[in-house]
Amino acid sequence: MIGKDEFGDFCLKNWREGREHVYVCWCCLTQGKVFMCHIKPGFVALVTVTLLLSIIAYTYNFSLRPVTFPLSWFNYANQTKFYNVVSEGLSGKRNVWNFFTKKRNETSNTETKPTASIKTEDNSIDKYVAHPRNYHFILDEPDKCKQDPFLVLMVPVAPHEVNARNAIRSTWGTESSVQGKAVLTLFLVGLTGGAEAQQQLEEESRQHRDLVQSNFVDSYFNLTIKTMVIMDWLATRCSQATYAMKVDSDMYINMENLMTLLLSPNTPRQNYITGYLMWNQPVIRDKNSKWYVPEELYPESRYPTYVLGMGYVFSNDLPPKIVEASEAIKAFNIEDAYVGACLKRLVINPSGAPDPSQFRTYVNDPKSTDLSKLITAIAGSPEKVIEFWQNVKGHK
Ligand SMILES: *[C@@H]1O[C@H](CO)[C@@H](O)[C@H](O)[C@H]1NC(C)=O
Ligand SMILES: *[C@@H]1O[C@H](CO)[C@@H](O)[C@H](O)[C@H]1NC(C)=O
Ligand SMILES: *[C@@H]1O[C@H](CO)[C@@H](O)[C@H](O)[C@H]1NC(C)=O
Repeated sequence: MIGKDEFGDFCLKNWREGREHVYVCWCCLTQGKVFMCHIKPGFVALVTVTLLLSIIAYTYNFSLRPVTFPLSWFNYANQTKFYNVVSEGLSGKRNVWNFFTKKRNETSNTETKPTASIKTEDNSIDKYVAHPRNYHFILDEPDKCKQDPFLVLMVPVAPHEVNARNAIRSTWGTESSVQGKAVLTLFLVGLTGGAEAQQQLEEESRQHRDLVQSNFVDSYFNLTIKTMVIMDWLATRCSQATYAMKVDSDMYINMENLMTLLLSPNTPRQNYITGYLMWNQPVIRDKNSKWYVPEELYPESRYPTYVLGMGYVFSNDLPPKIVEASEAIKAFNIEDAYVGACLKRLVINPSGAPDPSQFRTYVNDPKSTDLSKLITAIAGSPEKVIEFWQNVKGHK
C-alpha cells in the first residue's frame, strides 16, 4: 500500500477513519526533494505490528464507542500536522520520518499548529540574499585553473567535515587526469564557528590547496548561497574549464564513466546541464517542513524542471549566465530548484542523461549494484565513499 500523497511523500499505509486520513510515511529527502528509498522490512513490520496492537488495544478498551484511530498513541494534539524526526547526514542531507495526521480538507492548513517539531535553524527568510556579489572569498585558489582543467568538481561541504574531505581526497578526488583530460576537485565552505576552527581550516588549506571559503554563514538553509558562490568562483576564477560539476561530499563518483559521457560527441559543450532530473515538483508550503518556501519568495506551486542537487554536471559557460540570471530571481532556500529557476529564465532545459540509470540516488545494496556502470550515486558517509570506491577499483 505504498502511495504518494500531495506533498510527494511516499506513504506506507493509509487508514481512513471518519474525517481524517492517517498516514505513516517514510521518505528520504535530499535538499528538499523526495524520492522513495529502500524500506527496511524489519521497520515496516515493527511499525505495522505496533499500530495494529494499538488499534486492538484501543478498540478493546473502548469497544462501546465508535472506533477512531488512536492519535494519542503518538502523544500529540489533534491539530498537529507534522511530526518530523530529523537526523542530519552529510552535506545537509536529512532523513526525515514524518508521522502526521492530515485534515481531509487541506484548506484547513492555516489553522493547524504543530505541537512537536524539531527545529534547529532560524529560517530568517527576509535576510536571505543569495547573490554572490554580497560575499567575498576568505580562502581562495585563484591560480588553480591555470592548469587548464577540462572538468572541475566543486564540492560544497561544511567547514567541520574534514573526514568527508579526506575521504574524497583519498578516492575520486585523487584523479587529476582521466582519459587524458585534466580534472580538478575543490571544496567550498562558508564561515567556521570560531577562531580555532578557522585556524584548522587554514592549516588544512595550506596542506592541500583545495579549499575555497566565502564569508556567508554556513548552514543548511544557506545552501543556495553556497551554490551561487560556487557558480561565481567558476565564472571568475575558472572560465577556461570546459565542464564543471557540483557534487555533494557524500557522493560516489565514477570518473571514467563521467568522462566518457563528457567526451561523447553527442554531449553539448554549451548550455548543457545534466543529472538526476526532477519534474513538476510541488513547492512545500508547510511552515514546519525543512523545505518550506513561502509564496513571497516563490509564488508558483511547482518548480521548473531541475537537476537534483546531489550531483549535476554542466558546461562551464553556464556559471556566469546563472549568476547573471540570479539577479532577477528572488532567492529561495532550495538550491537545486533555484538553479532550475535561473535556467528557466535563461530558457535552458536540463538534459536527461543518455543513460538515466547512471545518476542514482541511494544504492541500497552496493554489492548487488554494479557501481562500475554508474556515474554517480549517494554513498552517504565518508566510510561509504571509500567503500564504494574500493569496490570498483578492486574489481578492475
Ligand atoms: C482537539 O480538537 C477539539 C475540537 O477541535 C478541541 O476542542 C480540543 O481542544 C483539541 N484538543 C487539543 C489537545 O488541542
Ligand atoms: C473545504 O473547505 C472549504 C473552505 O473552508 C469549503 O468551502 C469546502 O466545502 C470544504 N470541503 C470539504 C470537503 O469539507
Ligand atoms: C545565511 O547567510 C547569511 C549571510 O551570511 C546570514 O546573515 C544568515 O544568518 C544565514 N542564515 C542562516 C539560517 O544560516
